[in-house]
Amino acid sequence: MLKGKKISIIGAGNMAEAIVSGLLKKGIVNTGQICATDVNAERLAHFRKTFKVRVSQDNQESAKTSDIIILSVKPQVINKVFDGLDLSRGADQLIITVAAGIPIATIISELHPEARVVRAMPNTPAVVLEGATALAGGPGVTAKQLQMVQVMFEAMGQVVVVDESHLDAVTGLSGGGPAYVCLFIEALADGGVKMGLSRSHAQLLAAQTVLGAAKMVLETKEHPGVLKDQVASPGGTTIAGLHRLEKGRLRGTVIGAVESATLRCQELRQQAIVSRESSAAPPRVKRTAAGR
Ligand SMILES: NC(=O)c1ccc[n+]([C@@H]2O[C@H](COP(=O)([O-])OP(=O)(O)OC[C@H]3O[C@@H](n4cnc5c(N)ncnc54)[C@H](OP(=O)(O)O)[C@@H]3O)[C@@H](O)[C@H]2O)c1
Repeated sequence: MLKGKKISIIGAGNMAEAIVSGLLKKGIVNTGQICATDVNAERLAHFRKTFKVRVSQDNQESAKTSDIIILSVKPQVINKVFDGLDLSRGADQLIITVAAGIPIATIISELHPEARVVRAMPNTPAVVLEGATALAGGPGVTAKQLQMVQVMFEAMGQVVVVDESHLDAVTGLSGGGPAYVCLFIEALADGGVKMGLSRSHAQLLAAQTVLGAAKMVLETKEHPGVLKDQVASPGGTTIAGLHRLEKGRLRGTVIGAVESATLRCQELRQQAIVSRESSAAPPRVKRTAAGR
C-alpha cells in the first residue's frame, strides 16, 4: 500500500522517532522512502545514524517531492512550518498532522485549498510501539488514503478512526491516559512498599499487573467488569480491595479526569483561535528554508 511512496516527516522529535521506528521495524516502508527534516542538526544526525534515512534542514525541498508529508512539530511552531511550505500539488499529496489541537481546517487554509489532511492523535506509548492513536480524515480524503494512514499508525499500536469533533475527548482519554495510568502504577507500587515489599519488586509487579490486565481486556474482548468479577471471590481479598477503591470514588474520579482534560483541550483551542484572530497578520511571505 505504501510501496514506492515518498514520505517527508517534518520535525524529527520524539513522535517522529516513534513513527519512523514503527514503520521500519514493521517493514511497512524502507529507509529510502523516508526523509526527516528538522531545524536541529543533532536530531538529524541521530535520525541518520539510527534509522539510515535521508535527512534535511529544508522542509520545502523535502516536502515538494513527497507523496506523504507528516507534520510532527510542536503546535507552537507550526506557523513557522506553514510559512516555509509552498505546496502546489494540492490533492496529489497527503498531509498527516500529529500536532495536538491544530484543526484540519487550519491546515487546509494555510497550505492548499485542495490539501488532503488526516489528523492523528497518538500517545506516548507509541515510543515503545504500544500507542493508541485516533485518526480523523479531512475533506476529500479517500477511504483508501485513510486506510493507508491506519496501516502506518498500526505499526505503533492500536488505531481507531473518529470524527474530528471527537479528538478533544481522545486527548482527554488516551492523550493524557499514560499519565493517569502511571499515577495508578505509582500508587499501586506505593501500596506494596507500605505493606513491606521492596520498591523494585513493587514497581515491577504494579507495572506488569497493569500491562497484563490491559492485555486481557484487549485479547479476550470481555467487558472489564467481567474480568474484574472473575478475580473477586466471595468474602476474599480482592473484593476487600475493590470496596476500598469504590469508597475512594476511583471510578468517578477517573471519569472526571477525562472530562476535565477534554474541557481544558477545548478551552486551549478557543484561546488559540482568539489569539490568532487578535494578531491577524498580513499575508505571509513564503520561505523555502526550514521555516527558521
Ligand atoms: N510526544 C507525544 O507523545 C505526542 C503525542 C501526541 C501528539 N504529539 C504531537 O506531536 C508533535 C511533536 O511532538 P514531539 O513530542 O515529537 O516534539 P519534539 O520532540 O519537540 O519534536 C519536534 C521537533 O521539531 C523541531 N522543529 C522545530 N521547529 C521546526 C521547523 N520549523 N521545521 C522543522 N522542525 C522543527 C524541533 O526542534 P527544536 O527542539 O530544536 O525546536 C524538534 O526536534 C507535537 O505537535 C505534539 O503535539 C506528541
